[in-house]
Amino acid sequence: MSERREPIGVIGTGYVGLVTAAGFAHLGSEVFCIDIDADKVARLQAGEVPIYEPGLAEMLAERRDRLHFSTDIADALEHAKLLFVAVGTPPTYSGDADLSAVRAVVDAIPASTSHALVMKSTVPAGTGASIKRVLAEGGKQGIAYVSCPEFLKEGSAVKDFLKPDRVVIGDEGDWAGDAVVELYEPLKAPLVRTDIASAEMVKLASNAFLATKISFINEIANVCEETGADVIEVARGMGLDDRIGHKFLQAGIGFGGSCFPKDVNALKQLAGNSGYHFQLLNAVIEVNELQKRRVIGKLQKHLGSLVGRTVCLLGLAFKPNTDDMREASSLVLSARLQADGATIRVYDPVAEHEARTLIPAVHFAEDALDAVTGADAVVLVTEWAEFLELDWAQVAERMAGTLVLDGRNALDAGAVGAAGLTYEGIGRGAIASSA
Ligand code: UDX
Repeated sequence: MSERREPIGVIGTGYVGLVTAAGFAHLGSEVFCIDIDADKVARLQAGEVPIYEPGLAEMLAERRDRLHFSTDIADALEHAKLLFVAVGTPPTYSGDADLSAVRAVVDAIPASTSHALVMKSTVPAGTGASIKRVLAEGGKQGIAYVSCPEFLKEGSAVKDFLKPDRVVIGDEGDWAGDAVVELYEPLKAPLVRTDIASAEMVKLASNAFLATKISFINEIANVCEETGADVIEVARGMGLDDRIGHKFLQAGIGFGGSCFPKDVNALKQLAGNSGYHFQLLNAVIEVNELQKRRVIGKLQKHLGSLVGRTVCLLGLAFKPNTDDMREASSLVLSARLQADGATIRVYDPVAEHEARTLIPAVHFAEDALDAVTGADAVVLVTEWAEFLELDWAQVAERMAGTLVLDGRNALDAGAVGAAGLTYEGIGRGAIASSA
C-alpha cells in the first residue's frame, strides 16, 4: 500500500496506539504519534519497539518515513485533523473506567473546527456524550467526535488490524465520520456505521459476551470433572453448531489481559450506575476468579499440603505471544502458592521482565527444563508453543514428582502419560501415569 492518504494523529503509544499507527502508516497515512512518556518517545524515535507484538516491529520499520513520534500534541494538531485517542482507561477502585488520561487529551486540544477526536480507548457507553458536553463547556464545540472501538487481540493485533471482522464507527453523520470510513476503506471490512452510544456499547458487549462464553465453558468443564465427561469433546460437539461456533470455548484457568476483566467490570458498573443490576456479569466475574484458584485445589488433591513443595509454573503472560501480565492467572496462582508455603519456579519465554516486579520471591528459570527441575508438580499456565513441544521424558527425569497440571488443555496428554507422569487437565479427569 503506498497511496497517500489522510494524515492522522495517534495519542498514546500502547498496544492499541502503536498498532493503529503502524497500520494506518502501512495504508498510506502520515502518522503523528504523541505520548507523555518522554523515554518511550525517545525509544520509538530511535526505532525501538517498547512492547512485544508479533509483526509490529516489522510494520513500524517498513514505514519509518511516515511515522513521527513526539511528546507535544501540537505536532499532531498541526499536521492532522483526525486525532485517534488510544490512552489507557484503567479501572478505578469503584470498578468504573478511569478517564483522566482521556480528559487530559480533551483539555489539551484548543478550540478548533477542523479537528476530530476518534476514540479508540475502551470507554463506558455515554463517554462520547459527556466528552461532547465538556468540549461545549470549554467553547470547543467545533471539535467533532467519533467512536471507533478497537477489537485487536494481543498477540495477533497486526493481523487483526489488517483483516478485521468488522469496523465499527459511531458518529454524528459529519465530516469526521466520513473521514474515518475513508481511512478504513482499503481494508474492505464489513462496516457498522452507527451513533456514538451504540458504537461504544458494541465494544463492551462484545468483550462481555466473549468473557461469558469462556466462563460458561469453564463451568461446563467443572461439571465434566464431576460427571466423567471430557470438556474438549463437549466443546467440539457444541462448536459444530453454527449458532455456537468453536471459538472461545477453550476451558482453562480463567481469562486475563487488559480488556476482558476490565470491560466486564466496566459494563457491570455502567449498568449499576444506570440502576440496572447485570446479574449474568457478576457470575462471569466470580466464575473466573474461582477458576484461577481451582488449580490450588487440584495440587492439594494430589500432593496434600503444599508446605515445602516445589511447584513449577510454565508461562506467566495472560496468554501466549505477548509479554502482557495484566490480570494474568499466574499472578493469583503464584500469590496463592506462596501463601500456602510452596516454593515456586517459573519460566516464560517473553514476559519475565514484566513479571519480575509483579511476582517477587520466585525463582526465574533459564528455560522450561530448568524450571521443572526438582518440581513436585508442573502447571501449564500459558500455552506458549515451546511448552507444547517439550520432551516429556526429559521433564520426567528432571522433576522430583510426577504431576503435570495442564491449565490450558493444550498438552498432549498421551505423551505426558507415556513419560511416566500423571496428567490432569481442566474438565477432563485424570489420566494416570503409565509407568
Ligand atoms: C480481547 C478481545 O478478544 C479483543 O477483541 C479486545 O479488543 C481486547 O480484548 P485479548 O485480551 O488480547 O483480546 O485476548 P484474547 O485472545 O481475547 O484472550 C483473552 C483471555 O481469554 C486470555 O487470558 C485467554 O487465555 C482467555 N481465553 C480465550 C480462554 O480462556 N479461553 C478461550 O477459549 C479464549
